[in-house]
Amino acid sequence: MKIGIIGEIHNDGWDILRKNNYECFQLPNIEEKTLINDLQDVDGILLRTANLHNGILNHCKKLKIISRHGVGYDNLDVSFLNKNNIALTITSTSNAVSVAEHVLTFFLILTKKIHLSDKLTKEGKFKQKSTLPNFFELFKKNIMIFGFGRIGQAVAKRCLGFDCNVYVHDPFVPNEKIKELNCNPIDKNEGLKLADYISLHLPLNNDTKNFISKEEISLLKSNAIIVNTSRGGIVNEKDLFDALKNHNILGAGLDVFEIEPPDAKHPLFELDNILLTPHNAALTLECRKRMAVEAADNIVNYLSKNKDLNYNNFVNELQITR
Ligand SMILES: NC(=O)c1ccc[n+]([C@@H]2O[C@H](COP(=O)([O-])OP(=O)(O)OC[C@H]3O[C@@H](n4cnc5c(N)ncnc54)[C@H](O)[C@@H]3O)[C@@H](O)[C@H]2O)c1
Repeated sequence: MKIGIIGEIHNDGWDILRKNNYECFQLPNIEEKTLINDLQDVDGILLRTANLHNGILNHCKKLKIISRHGVGYDNLDVSFLNKNNIALTITSTSNAVSVAEHVLTFFLILTKKIHLSDKLTKEGKFKQKSTLPNFFELFKKNIMIFGFGRIGQAVAKRCLGFDCNVYVHDPFVPNEKIKELNCNPIDKNEGLKLADYISLHLPLNNDTKNFISKEEISLLKSNAIIVNTSRGGIVNEKDLFDALKNHNILGAGLDVFEIEPPDAKHPLFELDNILLTPHNAALTLECRKRMAVEAADNIVNYLSKNKDLNYNNFVNELQITR
């Protein structure tokens, strides 16, 4: 069996594929010509974030599985995979903790203004600490979580540890389940009105594009902080920029962008009330190891018809009966 790995993965993932005697290779770049040429006879693809459109996949005549290193799959056309009997898996057990910790890090740095205190101290202005703007506690604040799946729930659990009031909006999760986890179900607009912090954990699709834009931002309190670690485009960047520039809200943290990588002259870069990270919320060493291992296991278990498949990892369920 031949496996193409698009992007870098931790060695633990390579070890699993090699131990199973798969011929595996890494693609040096993601140019369309290279992908078409190198992937035409692979049985499986282990994929990080590259966009694999149907024009490329049409050439992969032996392809049986695409194993995403991660959980989002907006870089693939699932209906094309279904039609062509290609399984799609994700690493569902790997990255919730890492992303949730990233969200809490954004919350705490922005709330306590650690970045501004750090700058002042290093500039030798220790005695001028009273010139820093007010900073706050997370204690008893209202956290509004949109999307109560793996990551949303992991964020909620950590916020409850800080004695916060956690509100959740997810039309696909029953209210009983939200209450069972000590959170409060709430409508989108009501949640926006009472939130001190907003954290987004939705998939990107036609319904969730611009989920937070001008209209939603207009409902927020002036001390609100928006954190997006889900997908770029779920928060409208232009509207967020206007709100931050005019100090209509307190701050924001983004790990994801409408276009990645963002332009070097992106307007958000000039603001000091936003923290930005390069889509690396899930890239702690521990999480990279887990994702590489789980993505490799998904390929091996599927191709070897192992009965111990993790069914939660299959996006297009019809494939697992093959
Ligand atoms: N920044 C990163 O490195 C990183 C890492 C992992 C995942 N992600 C992204 O985080 C997001 C969440 O991942 P997850 O593993 O928790 O996914 P998940 O599938 O477990 O949860 C998503 C939740 O969103 C809910 N949802 C869908 N549409 C909604 C809507 N319109 N309103 C409210 N809720 C809605 C679903 O019901 C589901 O419960 C995804 O976009 C994923 O791509 C980012």
